[in-house]
Amino acid sequence: MKLKNILMAVVAMTSLMVASGAVQANEHGVALKHAEIDVTDQEQLRRGLTVFTDVCMGCHSAKYITYKGLMDYPELSLSREAVDELRGEHPLTAGLITDLSPEDAKVSYGKVPPDLSVIANARRGGPDYIYSVLTGFEHDPAGKVPDGNFNEYFPGNRIAMPDPLGWLDHDEADTAELEAQAQDVAAFLAFIADPHQNERRIIGCWVLGFLVVLTLVLYLLKKSVWSDVKH
Ligand code: HEC
Repeated sequence: MKLKNILMAVVAMTSLMVASGAVQANEHGVALKHAEIDVTDQEQLRRGLTVFTDVCMGCHSAKYITYKGLMDYPELSLSREAVDELRGEHPLTAGLITDLSPEDAKVSYGKVPPDLSVIANARRGGPDYIYSVLTGFEHDPAGKVPDGNFNEYFPGNRIAMPDPLGWLDHDEADTAELEAQAQDVAAFLAFIADPHQNERRIIGCWVLGFLVVLTLVLYLLKKSVWSDVKH
């Protein structure tokens, strides 16, 4: 591989990284709010798990996460005691986590609450979308959904989910707290949607480092091989 090609690859990667910080839009082109998340931040992920089990699991499942996963992922590394405590309240591995059966949920909310294991990858904008939806409930500004829940960021604005964090009627003092909860649970959902993403990034960095060193060695080798040849 030519040095030029390697440089091009590095530049392409850098611009990708920059692009991922850009404003995201939902499927209808509505610009989303940006969630401050860090899927390597153990504290944030654990807070997100708490929001998830305390609030979201009242209606949603997360079928693809297991208790073992919660203990094994270094990002969470929950103790067995902590996990047992969780399990007592919510059978995380038993498919549907809630007391509601999908049919009951449909009767109550008109729609079955989707499983959230991979929702962060399934929706455009991922964690930004989740954060925006959780903080996007409004008192139907233009009378668009008179008999439903208005949400600025949900495609079509009519969402069957009733404002889970109590965003609609919070007072100013709680805004930061609710925003933090929404970001934490968005981080948690982004993490469980792809629990090996951090591992992969670390491997990626090693590979890049290796390529840089290899390039240097090959360059020096080339110089020494050709040093005897008169130009
Ligand atoms: C009272 C029940 C209930 C609770 C609690 C609840 N949800 Fe929902 N949620 C729903 C329902 C019902 C839907 C389906 C909405 C629709 O399709 O209109 C939904 C949909 C969603 C969606 C999918 C939106 C989409 O694009 O399809 C996300 C993301 C979501 N909920 C996240 C959460 C999070 C995070 C929490 C916890 C903070 C939570 N929900 C708590 C009932 C609930």
